[in-house]
Amino acid sequence: MKRVLVIGAMGMLGRDLLGMLRSSKEVDTPKGFEVVGWDIDEIDIRQEGSTRSKIESLHPNLVINLAAYTDVEGCEANREEAFQVNAEGMKHVAMAAKVCGAKVVYLSTDYVFDGKKNEPYLESDSPNPLNVYGQTKLNGEQYLQEKVEDYLIIRTQWLYGRYGRNFVSSILRQAKEKQTLTIVDDQIGSPTYTVDLSRAILTLIQHNSRGIFHAANQDVCTWYTFGQAILKFSRVEGVSIIPITSKAFGRSAVRPSYSVLSTRKLERETGMSLRPWSEALKEYLGEINFK
Ligand SMILES: NC(=O)c1ccc[n+]([C@@H]2O[C@H](COP(=O)([O-])OP(=O)(O)OC[C@H]3O[C@@H](n4cnc5c(N)ncnc54)[C@H](OP(=O)(O)O)[C@@H]3O)[C@@H](O)[C@H]2O)c1
Repeated sequence: MKRVLVIGAMGMLGRDLLGMLRSSKEVDTPKGFEVVGWDIDEIDIRQEGSTRSKIESLHPNLVINLAAYTDVEGCEANREEAFQVNAEGMKHVAMAAKVCGAKVVYLSTDYVFDGKKNEPYLESDSPNPLNVYGQTKLNGEQYLQEKVEDYLIIRTQWLYGRYGRNFVSSILRQAKEKQTLTIVDDQIGSPTYTVDLSRAILTLIQHNSRGIFHAANQDVCTWYTFGQAILKFSRVEGVSIIPITSKAFGRSAVRPSYSVLSTRKLERETGMSLRPWSEALKEYLGEINFK
């Protein structure tokens, strides 16, 4: 029996991916795999000794590392902690995977780029992170590439899903409390649904793909136009949105103004393309509203 280990299994993406890996209904699920999901209660990837011994005794064939310090503002305030989880943590997991001869999948981010390109970023484009989160995720990518030959790095962006705090849940909550919202209108990207991303991850694994891939829902928007769509598709009335600049919003972490990821490599390699973000958003809102 082959064994898949998902680390960060209780996170927003992890819960969807684990559900899909364990569901016999999903056609894309690799067959005949035993699936093990661990999160911070079972493994703390900052700790080298215990991380290596736990993974080495499980002896998985495939390790999917989703564990991360994902609070982008928090990373600015706690640099060392962000580096410990996102970079050193990935290194510890990779060292153990190497001993087991396991393939490693690592989820990374559009924030490895500086946003100056103004056309969709290719996997071969040079990273130049603007914030600590992006820098530590890039360090994680590099450690993985150094330690393991059979790796799959999947860069994605602007995630939302049923199991975590995210932009969609934040806008819906704010719309219950306020009549006017202010949302940043000078960052461009592609909102991505964790269910669609989970399918892309499984498809890449099934194709035994290696190297770096970008995966995101199609079409682009700003956070402001994304916010407008969330209210419109949820039929929220009487709430208006004021577009503002990132500078006026005044967050500590600088974000790229344009971080659209080209997904052509994913399409070429697997024949799969993720649907437009607005279609995915409608389905997601339908499910959380009416179930
Ligand atoms: N969210 C996005 O928009 C986005 C965009 C691009 C890429 N990504 C990447 O996609 C992956 C999944 O993101 P997500 O949004 O699902 O993240 P998430 O909800 O924050 O899940 C990450 C999980 O990892 C756990 N974790 C944190 N530190 C750990 C440690 N030291 N050892 C073991 N587990 C630890 C977290 O536990 P606690 O909750 O207790 O901390 C959480 O359950 C991450 O690698 C992230 O960098 C996310």
